[in-house]
Amino acid sequence: MPDSTVETTTDDRPTPPRITVLGTGYLGATHAVAMAQLGFDVVGVDTDPAKITALANGKVPFYEPGLPELLEQSLASGRLRFTTDVASAVADGDVHFICVGTPQSKSGHAANLSYVEAATTAIARHLTHDAVIVGKSTVPVGTAARLREIVAQQAPAGVRVELVWNPEFLREGKAVHDTLHPDRIVLGGVSAYAEAVLREVYAGPIAEGSPVVVTDLPTAELVKVSANAFLATKISFINAIAGVCEAAGADVTVLADAIGHDKRIGRQFLDAGLGFGGGCLPKDIRALMHRAGELGAHRAVGLMQQVDEINMGQRDHVIAMATEACDGSVLNRRIGVLGAAFKPHTDDVRDSPALNVAAALHLRGAQVTVFDPQAGDTARATFPTLSYATSTQEAVEGADVVLLLTEWDEFLQADPAQLAALVGSAHLVDARGKIDAATWRDAGWSVRTLGRAA
Ligand code: UGA
Repeated sequence: MPDSTVETTTDDRPTPPRITVLGTGYLGATHAVAMAQLGFDVVGVDTDPAKITALANGKVPFYEPGLPELLEQSLASGRLRFTTDVASAVADGDVHFICVGTPQSKSGHAANLSYVEAATTAIARHLTHDAVIVGKSTVPVGTAARLREIVAQQAPAGVRVELVWNPEFLREGKAVHDTLHPDRIVLGGVSAYAEAVLREVYAGPIAEGSPVVVTDLPTAELVKVSANAFLATKISFINAIAGVCEAAGADVTVLADAIGHDKRIGRQFLDAGLGFGGGCLPKDIRALMHRAGELGAHRAVGLMQQVDEINMGQRDHVIAMATEACDGSVLNRRIGVLGAAFKPHTDDVRDSPALNVAAALHLRGAQVTVFDPQAGDTARATFPTLSYATSTQEAVEGADVVLLLTEWDEFLQADPAQLAALVGSAHLVDARGKIDAATWRDAGWSVRTLGRAA
């Protein structure tokens, strides 16, 4: 583990390198904490003073299991601090990670790169000594080359600086584990010097066996979006097959188990249901569509368009099932919605299929009551007009139909007999295919799932 004195190696590398992390959202906050856990001195930088104050006080501004404890430990160790002062942070650092967001732009499918450009400009301008700038944000292919031009224009003369790409593959809900024990470490566009610096930064995971892939900048950028595009394709594939299963009287869950035994296919990401959402998969496939179109790679555009359409169609399918359970109209009917987050173990409701379905039913005149164990506040901030319950029981009270939209354990373990006594009509749409349907039917419920015959 590195100690806190910085020395230099024979190739003038500072060792251990001091680290800055620009952007302290999901990716950046987790990365900063992970780097401090690996023994480095780390400064987290953000332009949002509220975020910085919260983190500096040991408060994680989002729900991520395990992160608050590690944040507290890292702060107590003295290895991690947070600031809004980018100039001093950059002056005191050797390796600068760009972890800012690249949301879908408001006017189209392209990624909004303004935050990445601003962070790169800020780092380059404030450099006082040699440095490596490491992009981790998910960007369209070709972005890093443009950022190199910004660095060349903005960096002070005489400073040796290199911009490389090192995409991040963490999953929300498992962010700490994924950051400390990555499946692979991709280093794009590195010189021998930058590779040596990053091999030192990731010495812990590398020693544990994380494979390192050294490649050029465009490949590194594309690895990330392609990984997400493949995961999205896998989900939409199984959801398309789920439609066939429903029509043919087959069971998509058993089918997924059976094909998943083939190691070439694998069982993960073959859970049919309401489909994917969140801050990554939807925006990344759209950004890929946009960029592939610009590059003239139209087959990828067509494929991603289909993946997106199948995915969005699952939401309509669940709305149709809810409407059917209400005898053809949801107007003035009571609907209990279990789940608002885009998946369990997060409070993230960005492009959440669950919240999207709840809101659509509300707009059709249903009285929708939502309960989510963690995402109540974020959901309320996004859709204040829905009503929010504080328990499963409260959400289902008097309901004409109950929709299970996010597969939190608490819902899967709920007592169907107890809930049956609370509802108006015991109709359940299990949009994630995770409950034990036989037990619920025994307790008096009618149960519909996607990918199984009615
Ligand atoms: C995803 C990728 O899994 C990460 O590797 C990547 O680093 C991250 O995006 C990112 O780009 O930052 P995440 O958005 O946290 O991670 O969520 P996933 O666990 O991938 O789930 C995405 C969605 O797919 C969820 O809505 C989930 O409910 C849905 N899903 C997942 C299914 O519908 N079926 C499945 O079988 C699996």
